[in-house]
Amino acid sequence: MPTSCCSDTRAGTNTFFSKNAETYLRRFRKKGLRKEQRSLAAGIAAVGLDDRSVLEIGCGVGGLHLTLLQRGARSAVGVDISEGMILRARSLAADLGFGDRTEYLLGDIVAMDAGIAHSDIVVLDKVVCCYDDLDSLLTVSLGKAGLVYALSFPRPHPFNRWGIACISAVGGLLRWPFVPKWHDWGAMLERICTSGFTERYASQSLFWSVRVFARA
Ligand SMILES: C[S@@+](CC[C@H](N)C(=O)[O-])C[C@H]1O[C@@H](n2cnc3c(N)ncnc32)[C@H](O)[C@@H]1O
Repeated sequence: MPTSCCSDTRAGTNTFFSKNAETYLRRFRKKGLRKEQRSLAAGIAAVGLDDRSVLEIGCGVGGLHLTLLQRGARSAVGVDISEGMILRARSLAADLGFGDRTEYLLGDIVAMDAGIAHSDIVVLDKVVCCYDDLDSLLTVSLGKAGLVYALSFPRPHPFNRWGIACISAVGGLLRWPFVPKWHDWGAMLERICTSGFTERYASQSLFWSVRVFARA
């Protein structure tokens, strides 16, 4: 893919999620973690959180990794393409008293690869459906995970696939800055397993599937 095309996609993702960042923050402050995030936190805690480092890719406003810190993790790095999300994650971390145990980096994890340290736990919550180049996203994120790899993604069901296809088609016609992506989720799970991980936790809601893997 030409560089200009990738930069356009990243710019569109930044525009869309920065516009919505305040809503994400307000929702977290009012209601706490979403259902799929509660599942991710439970699944990761079941494998073991104590004194572990966390890398959350596409961290949004940070509610999930800040909760993992509250439950025993040692430190967290949040990476996001969206400037608005990173700004709010930083301020939420400070408000919750985690300013000194968190670091926030603005950018596309795939482009930043070499500058990101390995972590015990890598989390991607509703991120794999926000990025075109799933193959590179998996290569980089799996390479950073020392012990645990946890993610949520759209449940592979025809209704969900059809829903995302409709949103993408309308978004393409109306030139929205961002549209969600549908990938081969079965192939993604296989790739995680062939990278040396074993599934340790699984749950699903109507739309989201949650999986937590640990190094075999
Ligand atoms: C649907 S939002 C989810 C945010 C957060 N995980 C949550 O559940 O509240 C997806 C986020 O991933 C970010 N994102 C997508 N692709 C990314 C990439 N390659 N590197 C870093 N962030 C990315 C977007 O900017 C966006 O903030």
